Amino acid sequence: MRLRRKADTIDLLQGKERIVLDAKQWKGRWSELFQHPSAPIHAELGMGKGRFISELARLHPDMNFIGMDRYEELIRRAYDKALAVGDGEMPGNLVLVRANVEYIDDMFAESELSRIYLNHSDPWPKKRHENRRLTHPRFMHKYMQILKPDGEIHLKTDAASLFEYSLNVFAEMNLPMRQIRLNLHADGTPPNHVFTEYEQKFVNEGLPIYRVEVCMNNGAGS
Ligand SMILES: C[S@@+](CC[C@H](N)C(=O)[O-])C[C@H]1O[C@@H](n2cnc3c(N)ncnc32)[C@H](O)[C@@H]1O
Repeated sequence: MRLRRKADTIDLLQGKERIVLDAKQWKGRWSELFQHPSAPIHAELGMGKGRFISELARLHPDMNFIGMDRYEELIRRAYDKALAVGDGEMPGNLVLVRANVEYIDDMFAESELSRIYLNHSDPWPKKRHENRRLTHPRFMHKYMQILKPDGEIHLKTDAASLFEYSLNVFAEMNLPMRQIRLNLHADGTPPNHVFTEYEQKFVNEGLPIYRVEVCMNNGAGS
């Protein structure tokens, strides 16, 4: 995603409630940021402009959500969406984080998350870039550490190559999979479905969306 960096973006985000620019400082303490600290935390890694995570926050006020992206300009755009959802204020169950997934194990304590969403992650189709894919085993081991023993990863993508690769990684790690879909919208959009920006674009173009849910299986088989 190409973005022009606006000089004042960091100034605009700095000090805002539930906007985090120093993720590592919150390791083990994320629940303190939410209005209902005891609710489970679900995080979207690489949220882009934030449509999906802000809509989830609106639909599920009893759950806590984190949207993460590495570009502050995207945090700013997601912030605008969050304000729209929260009638001018950041919803009490949503935190937006500028951070690189690469360092996710420095940002979250063991079992701090209940679910991770990977939506239309960059596919990195070239073999030499395999270890950049967000479902590469080196990332999976980090996710398994920070997810609860019964935690889940929900993945959707337009990229058949990333989907096939990810299913193989999950299978090799003996992680149980369910709800595997090779064309999620083939028979119409599922009820209560929440779109991401990328998903909407690809569905409008008539392209299939692949989806799978993975269970953490208490770290067994890793
Ligand atoms: C193709 S976009 C998908 C955005 C959104 N999830 C959607 O489905 O519309 C991928 C996003 O992941 C972010 N991203 C890629 N690698 C990342 C990383 N290592 N850490 C944080 N964000 C990352 C990019 O900045 C981009 O916003």
